Amino acid sequence: MRIAIVGGHGKVALHLHPLLVRAGHTPVALVRNESYHDELRRLGAEVRPLDIEHAEATDFTAAFEGCDAVVFAAGGGPDGNIERKQTVDLEGSLKSVHGAREAGIARFVQVSAIGVDHLPPLDQGDVWRAYVEAKRDADAALRASDLDWTIIRPGRLTDDPATGLVALGTDAERGDVTRADVAAVLAAVLDDDETVGHQWNLVGGDTPVAEAVARAAHG
Ligand SMILES: NC(=O)c1ccc[n+]([C@@H]2O[C@H](COP(=O)([O-])OP(=O)(O)OC[C@H]3O[C@@H](n4cnc5c(N)ncnc54)[C@H](OP(=O)(O)O)[C@@H]3O)[C@@H](O)[C@H]2O)c1
Repeated sequence: MRIAIVGGHGKVALHLHPLLVRAGHTPVALVRNESYHDELRRLGAEVRPLDIEHAEATDFTAAFEGCDAVVFAAGGGPDGNIERKQTVDLEGSLKSVHGAREAGIARFVQVSAIGVDHLPPLDQGDVWRAYVEAKRDADAALRASDLDWTIIRPGRLTDDPATGLVALGTDAERGDVTRADVAAVLAAVLDDDETVGHQWNLVGGDTPVAEAVARAAHG
């Protein structure tokens, strides 16, 4: 498969590209910054330009051309900018969903965040609340779409090395998970159509990734 990754230079995405290449796929990294291109090509990715905030939905369709699946791995990041929760985490996802449909791509995997169906207490601040609302609304829109979606909701991300061991499922409790392990789960999910229509929490655990995905998908 040729797999478009929105937020193609994100820290999770950088782990994902080599895993997709190893699985026989072609990652297509969509990025806004030309200085990323060489690094991404060295990881085996094709690179296409896409600025999520400035692009129209039709630009997303064009960026997805020839791809078989889309992974939404972008995020506004921890810059404290409320507006970017809306323009990147929510609208970026909505435009990606629209773009995928228009490009005739059914498969769509979204990186969300654990617990976003529950709004945080007001004393945790406006930025956090805006982030939770954006992720919640993006997930709801994707679930309501007719795409073949899977939503992965990781706990707090770390840059520790891959463990290969996770807890994945609707009832996985809050915890940390390495970005490398998130990427491994995304790669496994993309290769298993039984994961379509599922939304799972993901944290570090004690089940090997392949087994965790198979168990979550097949029961
Ligand atoms: N941090 C956590 O603990 C945590 C927990 C659960 C879920 N998540 C979610 O997990 C996902 C992946 O996390 P991560 O650590 O890999 O994120 P990350 O490293 O911050 O990557 C996000 C990517 O989105 C890109 N992006 C932002 N605005 C853009 C724009 N206008 N146009 C094009 N690209 C844009 C950034 O590009 P630039 O490099 O150009 O800025 C960046 O590469 C995110 O959705 C995040 O919200 C995070």
